[in-house]
Amino acid sequence: DWTMDNLISESVSAIRQRVGGERALCAISGGVDSAVAAALVHRAIGEQLTAVFVDHGLLRKGESQQVMESLAGDLGVHVERIDARQRFLGQLTGVSDPEQKRKLIGTEFIRVFEEASERLGPFSFLVQGTLYTDIVESGTATAATIKSHHNVGGLPEDIRFELVEPLKELFKDEVRALGEKLGLPAALVHRQPFPGPGLAIRIIGDVDEEKLSLVRESDAILRDEIAKAGLDREIWQYFTVLTGNRSVGVMGDERTYGFTVAVRGVVSQDGMTADWARIPYDVLERISTRIVNEVPGINRVVYDITSKPPATIEWE
Ligand code: XMP
Repeated sequence: DWTMDNLISESVSAIRQRVGGERALCAISGGVDSAVAAALVHRAIGEQLTAVFVDHGLLRKGESQQVMESLAGDLGVHVERIDARQRFLGQLTGVSDPEQKRKLIGTEFIRVFEEASERLGPFSFLVQGTLYTDIVESGTATAATIKSHHNVGGLPEDIRFELVEPLKELFKDEVRALGEKLGLPAALVHRQPFPGPGLAIRIIGDVDEEKLSLVRESDAILRDEIAKAGLDREIWQYFTVLTGNRSVGVMGDERTYGFTVAVRGVVSQDGMTADWARIPYDVLERISTRIVNEVPGINRVVYDITSKPPATIEWE
């Protein structure tokens, strides 16, 4: 439509003017905002943009491939994917405190990103997918920090780049529309919110490769069943949590002793408050049956019926 086309052509010429003949760098997180910002800046300056995608191994199933296919494959953005999975796993080994996990992941992300920018640079500009709401929210001081929210795009104060923030006057729904107009797939553009520390905070206690696989596989089944039931745009956020709890079960004639997975589904406007989603019993039944049958190591599924407050959306 006319407004979107206008928005694109105005942004493109403003970005060209600003960047001139210099090079720009951006960090791709797997989320909507950084992907749309990269696509828009690429439209403006093409090869002068380098996108760095730090794959920390904490994304959901298929997400890393989807980001590469749509940005690098379909749109031709120059994306450097850095496989940092073992580095992050190494940092996380033996760490069970939620806030410590967040801090470690944030610090390691910055380290990997800085190394990449030195290797691939020099760059004069840094592209960030900051939205209007991000600016408004960070202007208001909250009384107490419940969780230190780390966004994978968040960088240290002493950055030596000039910032390019092409989305900073837009709201989330406008960013989604812009992304579709720029040729990003609907599945990426309409993605539910996902925390920067990723699956690490959906494993209660310490993180290892096997637990990551259990939470990733169970989450993929949940997402598949929610989509099949046509509920994927109705439920604001839905995911599985690998609880640290193990319990006894029976499969065939065998006794099992496996992990309990919790399914979390919430409806919300902005994540500040939330109510648990009334997922129909037959959908819950399919989710439970499939997880227990298809993910060895999990023998029990429970549904979280707590609202926020008093609970938070994530378990950590
Ligand atoms: P909580 O659990 O605080 O979550 O009710 C509210 C919303 O924020 C997301 N969330 C995070 N996002 N870094 C992020 O970028 C984080 O550390 C983080 N922790 C929670 C959560 O997924 C929900 O959408």
